[in-house]
Amino acid sequence: MKELLLVLLLVTEAYCRSHSSWCQSGCQCRGDLKFTVCSRGLFSRLPGRVPPNTELLDLSDNHISVIPERSFGRNRKLRFLLLQNNNVSVVEDGGFSQMEFLQKLDLSRNRISALTEGFSVGLAFLRELQLAHNLLARLDSRSFLHLDGLQRLNLSSNAIHSIQVRSFSPMSSLRQLHLRDNRLTSLRSGTFSMLRSLEVLDLAGNQISDMQTSVFKPLTSMTLLNLADNRMTTVHFKTFLSIHTYSTHILLEENPWNCDCDLQRVFRKLRSIQRLFLDDYYNLTCREPEALGDYRLTDVDTELCLAETVTVLVITGTVLVTVLAAMLMGEKRRKKEKKRKHWTQQGAQSDESDS
Ligand SMILES: *[C@@H]1O[C@H](CO)[C@@H](O)[C@H](O)[C@H]1NC(C)=O
Ligand SMILES: *[C@@H]1O[C@H](CO)[C@@H](O)[C@H](O)[C@H]1NC(C)=O
Ligand SMILES: *[C@@H]1O[C@H](CO)[C@@H](O)[C@H](O)[C@H]1NC(C)=O
Repeated sequence: MKELLLVLLLVTEAYCRSHSSWCQSGCQCRGDLKFTVCSRGLFSRLPGRVPPNTELLDLSDNHISVIPERSFGRNRKLRFLLLQNNNVSVVEDGGFSQMEFLQKLDLSRNRISALTEGFSVGLAFLRELQLAHNLLARLDSRSFLHLDGLQRLNLSSNAIHSIQVRSFSPMSSLRQLHLRDNRLTSLRSGTFSMLRSLEVLDLAGNQISDMQTSVFKPLTSMTLLNLADNRMTTVHFKTFLSIHTYSTHILLEENPWNCDCDLQRVFRKLRSIQRLFLDDYYNLTCREPEALGDYRLTDVDTELCLAETVTVLVITGTVLVTVLAAMLMGEKRRKKEKKRKHWTQQGAQSDESDS
């Protein structure tokens, strides 16, 4: 009996030791589910012991600030890596290398201010990258270099004000690009080149006032373009005409529209294009001219060109009247002249007969 107990004790201890040696304290390891959850574990560094068969590693809500090179070399089976709400400011080159099964990486709510080429090394199969609420200010052609398979990229709520042409072009499979709540002021042609699979482009909440006319042209799969809450006062017909898709919904509300006859004409033409849907057209409000401030565009749009028409009519009328008057005056003068000549001739004749 004693021996049996001893054996049992030894077995349990061995089991516990082997188990704990692969599960860092502060984490919960669910080997059966291949989950390792180290959320809210007060970690300031990556935990050293994560079971090698882990497919989902949740490290959210900690204080991790550095991702050293090849951090996950022993966890090659990872498919989901959650690092949101940490203090990550440095991802060393190759920090995520050798993760050929990783599908989703969540780095939102950290302090990342730059994406170097080394950041994306080894992430060729990543499908979703969450980078919202970081400190990114500019993107360049190396920022996403190795992300060939990425389908969803969330860059919302950063401080992005500059995007180099071809920054996004390595991601030819990208389907959703979220750039909401950044500091973009203009969009240059070439910014979205190569994004032939892109379906959703969210640019709401920026300061965009200026777009080159062919900027959206390469986006032949785009179904949703959100430009709400920007600084657009007017829009060029060609910019949207160049969108060659089957059907695209465009959102434009909360922009400071300058409601003049040109704007009305552009919108009239845009709304007649079958493949474009201006979903919030009835919500567009005017900022300029001052007299129309806060009016809805739809409430005044019939009058915008009317005023112009009236002005044209008035001018035409005035010109006509002036011309007519001039003609009449001329005619009158000619008649008078004729009469005067007639009289003078008669006078001369009578003079002659008198003498
Ligand atoms: C976050 O990281 C910075 C250095 O980048 C460090 O100074 C700060 O103490 C860290 N904060 C926490 C809560 O760990
Ligand atoms: C992008 O990130 C923000 C903030 O984390 C989140 O609220 C939003 O749902 C994300 N959008 C997508 C499409 O993933
Ligand atoms: C228009 O604005 C109203 C109120 O602000 C909102 O409820 C509605 O969803 C908007 N419509 C569209 C198409 O965005």
